[in-house]
Amino acid sequence: MTRFRSHRGERLPVKSLLQSEAARDDVQTRGWARTVRSGRGVTFIALNDGSSLDSLQVVVDSSLPNYDAVSRLGTGACISVSGDLVESPASGQKWELQARQVEIVGLSDPDYPLQKKRHSFEYLRTIAHLRPRSNSFGAVSRMRSAVSFAVHRFFHERGFLYVHTPIITASDCEGAGELFRVTTLDAENPPRSDGKVDFSRDFFGEETGLTVSGQLEGEMFATAFSDIYTFGPTFRAENSNTSRHAAEFWMIEPEMAFCDLDGDCALAEEFLRYLVQSVLENCADDLDFFDQRIEKGLIDKLQQLVKAEFAAMSYSDAVAALEKSGRSFEFPVSWGADLQSEHERYLTEEVVGGPVFVTDYPAGIKAFYMRRNDDEKTVAAMDLLVPRVGEIIGGSQREERLDVLDARMREVNIAPESLWWYRDIRRWGSCPHAGFGLGFERFLMYVTGMENIRDVIPFPRTPGHAAF
Ligand code: 4AD
Ligand code: MG
Repeated sequence: MTRFRSHRGERLPVKSLLQSEAARDDVQTRGWARTVRSGRGVTFIALNDGSSLDSLQVVVDSSLPNYDAVSRLGTGACISVSGDLVESPASGQKWELQARQVEIVGLSDPDYPLQKKRHSFEYLRTIAHLRPRSNSFGAVSRMRSAVSFAVHRFFHERGFLYVHTPIITASDCEGAGELFRVTTLDAENPPRSDGKVDFSRDFFGEETGLTVSGQLEGEMFATAFSDIYTFGPTFRAENSNTSRHAAEFWMIEPEMAFCDLDGDCALAEEFLRYLVQSVLENCADDLDFFDQRIEKGLIDKLQQLVKAEFAAMSYSDAVAALEKSGRSFEFPVSWGADLQSEHERYLTEEVVGGPVFVTDYPAGIKAFYMRRNDDEKTVAAMDLLVPRVGEIIGGSQREERLDVLDARMREVNIAPESLWWYRDIRRWGSCPHAGFGLGFERFLMYVTGMENIRDVIPFPRTPGHAAF
């Protein structure tokens, strides 16, 4: 027996009332008013508590003792209602709540910035503290939560170990120099030696930053537990102000021992299908909303993805396809240059018309840890490209041969000693292994149709923006 009283009490979520099988007397619910309309001795309140896209119509009769106050409630006000769930005479809704009692929990000032009309996504970003109460961001948030759960379920069902990799790190996994610095040194007057900032006197005794990926530490765990995954925030000080990049985003990174690039692609495909299937099964109402309002044909696209076999082509074939496309791209295409998002989208949208793995990229444009192929020019890398979003997954087989790894590190000016621990697992029981990273927000963009990454993450961090 607990001596504590649950905060839920007898309250029922709005969703369960909307989905009720039968009329019910004397039920309680709580939430925030989406609209309040009064007239002729009756007030209608659209009550929403985030449990569903639809609001519950609360009907308040003028016989209630606090009717005056209730009829003057503003949009956004918080109320607790008890009453009877009865069939609604209004069209478009099965039930309404005939109030017996309305408790005003929190009033709402008249300048509430989230009125009933449709607001632009740009405007909603300026009120990110209130946009969880909007239809679109409510649907996105429910989706985000449901997909997170599906991610864990997928790996749990397959025996993968969930690892929490560090957020503060001294290594730049991707080698792109995009680490945000973490320091306690006095920015005005840091200690110096030989004219340079002396990081040996910093908190950790060396230069540290926020992680760009949990992969390197993930590999350590894969060589103990075979199949592992991470799911956490990652940070990149990438000054690219695009609709697909955030400075703080979430990534899911599985890592598998005894796995090559083929096995890596197989898991990526299975994973994506599983997540999309779970969204179709568990987020039907929100998907309908996205299909109607955001991306026409979305549900159809997702249903196709669950059935389709993903295409695959090598980087070299992709470059050949781009070269003979006759398109004039902003960035020129040539073997050895990185694919830009315009190229990626052309490949997935025009050449394939669906998801496509591009594999075996030139070593020169990929990170140091990727396994060198026998041709000595390319590495066992893969990117999964999908229409509209472009790159959604990046992965590779890892270089498990110490001598090859060392040579590669020197080539890209990484001192092998600085990653002594990473090298060590190649000395004691090294084995082939592979993994990938799914950008969680990129996936959400794909399944919601939302076009800007800022609109699928609660409080986006992008160049120049850290508000809220
Ligand atoms: O391709 P990336 O850089 O790969 C890695 O970080 C590897 N360590 C993953 C691995 O093999 N374990 O990033 C992986 C994915 C990208 O495909 C993209 O979906 C997403 O992370 N991503 C971003 N998402 C939002 N904002 C950014 N700035 C992103 N950068 C990468
Ligand atoms: Mg990538």
